[in-house]
Amino acid sequence: MQQANFVGWKSRWTFILAATGSAVGLGNIWKFPYITGEYGGGAFVLVYLACILLVGIPVMMAEISIGRFGRTDPIHSTVRGAQDAKTTTAWSLIGFMGVLAGLMILMFYSVVAGWALDYVWQSATGAYSNLQATAIEENFEALASDNTRQLAWHTLFIILTGSVVAVGVIRGIGTVVDVLMPLLFVLLLVLLGYSWANGDFEAGLNFMFRFDFSKLTAEAVLTALGHAFFTLSLGMGAIMAYGAYMPENSSVAKTTLVIALLDTVIALVAGMAIFPLVFANGLEAGQGAGLMFATLPVAFSSMPGGVIFSTIFFLLVSIAALSSSISLIEPGVAWLERQGVQRVWSALVFSLIGWAGGAACIYLPGVFDSLDFATTNIMLPLGGLLIAIFVGWIMRRNTVRKQLRDTGELMFNSWYVVTRFIAPAGVIAVFLYQLGLLQKLGWI
Ligand code: TRP
Repeated sequence: MQQANFVGWKSRWTFILAATGSAVGLGNIWKFPYITGEYGGGAFVLVYLACILLVGIPVMMAEISIGRFGRTDPIHSTVRGAQDAKTTTAWSLIGFMGVLAGLMILMFYSVVAGWALDYVWQSATGAYSNLQATAIEENFEALASDNTRQLAWHTLFIILTGSVVAVGVIRGIGTVVDVLMPLLFVLLLVLLGYSWANGDFEAGLNFMFRFDFSKLTAEAVLTALGHAFFTLSLGMGAIMAYGAYMPENSSVAKTTLVIALLDTVIALVAGMAIFPLVFANGLEAGQGAGLMFATLPVAFSSMPGGVIFSTIFFLLVSIAALSSSISLIEPGVAWLERQGVQRVWSALVFSLIGWAGGAACIYLPGVFDSLDFATTNIMLPLGGLLIAIFVGWIMRRNTVRKQLRDTGELMFNSWYVVTRFIAPAGVIAVFLYQLGLLQKLGWI
């Protein structure tokens, strides 16, 4: 009895922990603040929040439902959903595109995670303590222009990712997310407190929450939508793969809301910790991918106990990145495992491809940004669009209803309408807007 209870408790939490671990990562702490800075703040944040609510949450429920119905890897789960609806199994294309997207994301994600690892080392050795803000900015530039150093940390991060996936994602993830993610959140709150006391908090909040729609370009809207997918790990099957492990008696809707809320709060807190430092120190909000590494060390370098504190912080960021990166290749590895390929081998092959792509990001100009744009702004929204259409229009309504059986009739119907109409229409509209077609059609 004791034993059974324990197993039950563990499996009940496994999905939530794994999915939260996948969602919370560099997307929240590194990417969200930096793109918010690039696209001018407030209005971008508002569009991003709207995308989470109207597209991200419904699509996450759809992904989990497919995964839990199929109880296997994303490719085979979509095949099962299609077979159940007696329609073409070509819908498994969603899964194949996702495997590719995951690999492509891993390539640049691992380079950034490498930066975080480098900052663990720098923090521990006090490399930037007592430096002025401008020197700290230059300190990041030094890393970004040192290819060998970046390659070394990127290599280490790929080895870590590959090793966890080789052992099995679901087995090892529990304690990591269970203990370390709350700790990361606490440290973010401490940073927030520091920014509130020492930064230009008002200017920071104004920047993030004053909505100036004149700054909002079509590309900003597309980036906000893309980031909603990126930060929740949607559109490529990661959450579908984890959904296969979700117990029948867990609530898809409630779990989704918890994950989306945690993920959003962490991103907002990271932004609110970073921007007051930007304005208090005369730094550039739109400086790009180095934003987090040029700002947070400013706080660490002047706070008591900064060396220990910053070492732990960057270590936790690296671990958050690891619990995300493993979900980037898990769908592909799980798929190959079902084809009879041993986990160790497929993890190795995926790691090698990811490693080579990361090296290309480091050595060849333009590769990093192209991979980011192609995945975040095109492949993930496209994958999400197909997932919404698949669940909303292709899978049998009864099959889907069964996955959401604990959800009341009104809630289910609202979700169903959003998934069938609003989410797909939203993604298509943003694509057309980016292509300039909405203007040509005279719709806007
Ligand atoms: N969500 C993660 C982050 O915010 C990144 C990530 C992990 C991801 N798995 C994913 C993004 C799958 C898109 C798809 O850092």
